[in-house]
Amino acid sequence: KNVLFVASECTPFIKTGGLADVIGSLPQALKQNEKIDARVILPLYDEIDEAWKNQMEYHMSFDVQVGWRSQEASIYTLKYNRIMYYFIANTYYFTRKGIYGYYDDGERFVFFSQAVIEALAHLDFKPEILHAHDWQAGMAVALANIKQPIENMKTIFTIHNIKYQGIMPLETFDDFFQFSREHIGGMEWNGMLNCLKSGLFHADKITTVSPTYAEEIKDPYYSEGLHPILEEKSNDLIGILNGIDMKEYNPLTDPQVPIRYRSSRARKKENKVLLQEKLGLPKDGDIPMFTIITRLVEQKGLHLVQHILDEFMEAEVQFVVLGTGDPEFEAYFADAAHRYPDKLVTLLTFDEGLARQLYASADFFVMPSKFEPCGLAQLISLQYKTVPIVRETGGLKDTVQSYNEFTSEGNGFSFQSYNAHDLLSVLHLALATYHHPENWAKLMKNVNKSQFSWKESAGEYAKLYGQIKAEALV
Ligand code: GLC
Repeated sequence: KNVLFVASECTPFIKTGGLADVIGSLPQALKQNEKIDARVILPLYDEIDEAWKNQMEYHMSFDVQVGWRSQEASIYTLKYNRIMYYFIANTYYFTRKGIYGYYDDGERFVFFSQAVIEALAHLDFKPEILHAHDWQAGMAVALANIKQPIENMKTIFTIHNIKYQGIMPLETFDDFFQFSREHIGGMEWNGMLNCLKSGLFHADKITTVSPTYAEEIKDPYYSEGLHPILEEKSNDLIGILNGIDMKEYNPLTDPQVPIRYRSSRARKKENKVLLQEKLGLPKDGDIPMFTIITRLVEQKGLHLVQHILDEFMEAEVQFVVLGTGDPEFEAYFADAAHRYPDKLVTLLTFDEGLARQLYASADFFVMPSKFEPCGLAQLISLQYKTVPIVRETGGLKDTVQSYNEFTSEGNGFSFQSYNAHDLLSVLHLALATYHHPENWAKLMKNVNKSQFSWKESAGEYAKLYGQIKAEALV
């Protein structure tokens, strides 16, 4: 089976979030486990490392009509780890610093989507399924539907985050497209042109990245206004949990982990002491260490943390925060580090090496998200035998079960309501468990068994691809 992934980021080439990890690892898993030829098409950002660009091969160029304007698109190819990647180059739209955050982001990704559809005529590859991800690729689904570039090609749209939709004034429709206004209905939402809605409306199947999130987004609390359309298409909406690359995230082989380990507490403690030394914290392997590694944005539940941090810091703990993001949170955690100089460290950077060292050193990973489509950090933390503390939402709910000392079940700690004192009470419960050797041993046994590889989920995608093709025949 031939599947073309359309997305705006992909590791190892370009990444701002979890989307890149999924696009970088799922095609591998589909190829290895399911014998599916999954390829990926991406924009060629300036930001992509020269080392990658030097390995790319020029394929050909063509013109894309963006409304009345003609823009050139060039296709470059790169084979990496047995997967074929196509890159769409255009100087005007993609030769800029960074990847998002421009006034014309909407237009940039409408262009990208148009270029992807035109490119289909020029590739040595005929996808049976176009699998588009997030709003940046939403218009590719709409165009595939309207223009039918390949006979019988089916479409899947995957929501990684419904909060970002790619919304523009409706007048831009005439500015971008040359087809009849009858198509406006499928692309419009609340009087605006909406890329995510366009993808949802036109897709044969919609997926999102966890079963719980698939339910949540039909509810106004989580839907960011789109529940009516998801409700309408709920028969074609399913949640498939993300996996992570088990080879990439393995504390036994990770070169960024100073003292490698499989599940040894002693070795984890050695990592902790090395990190304490590096960060200028008191060196003591027995002090429980909590960490937050994330983009510092509201989604991640940081308002809850703010609310109870002072109370929590009265306990004998260490806390390390790593990430960048909204100035509000950056300032808050920088200030907290000054207030608790030998207990709390804030690292306002995005540093993969440090992140790995932290996963390996910390005892607890704190992730009280307001919403979380899947969440990869809790899965990584489980790999590194670091106990996740989460709110029961989206993929967090599907992967972390609160430890129950009576049944000995559970691989972490969780709470339900978006309430700061509920978070505080599970933090204290986690601490108490840490100091109770018997319970701790049972909890760790469950943590050690928790693995979220791509194996099963790749199988579910393969099944869905098969189902789409079968439905097309009846
Ligand atoms: C987005 C979501 C995150 C998910 C990731 C990959 O970043 O916020 O929950 O894990 O996409 O699907």
